[in-house]
Amino acid sequence: MAIERTLSIIKPDAVAKNAIGQIVARFEAAGLKVVAARLVQLSRAEAEGFYAVHKERPFFNDLVEFMISGPVFVQVLEGENAIAKNRELMGATNPKEAAPGTIRADFAESIDANAVHGSDAPETAAVEIAYFFAETEIHSR
Ligand code: TYD
Repeated sequence: MAIERTLSIIKPDAVAKNAIGQIVARFEAAGLKVVAARLVQLSRAEAEGFYAVHKERPFFNDLVEFMISGPVFVQVLEGENAIAKNRELMGATNPKEAAPGTIRADFAESIDANAVHGSDAPETAAVEIAYFFAETEIHSR
């Protein structure tokens, strides 16, 4: 299986709950390595740019407001099958539909405050990683 990198964001709701460590521990326990990380307060323009693919969706403005409501923890995870593995650990977008034991089932309150983001494909992972990190800030090990 291929070693992949994916972008993970611990969103403002989970950061506010002081759950960064608990969520990162799940990634590490599943064999994913944190190879870059930073706590960041997104500007409105940065949040809009990151979610540009959703800009025509009815939830776009609320999503942007939520993403700038407090700091987020952005990280690059690396490991075998990292993109799908991260999505599995996250659970479904709507926490009410997320499988028991997933991050969203355990930490998210609602579909619009759903604790984590994870890239959904190799192409989006590459773009999203480059949105936050220079190659020199990523340390494979
Ligand atoms: P999406 O890319 O569909 O989900 P995921 O985060 O699981 O890849 O949507 C991006 C974010 O947009 C999602 O995490 C929360 C928000 N969102 C809503 O607020 N309402 C919605 O109906 C949907 C589909 C998403």
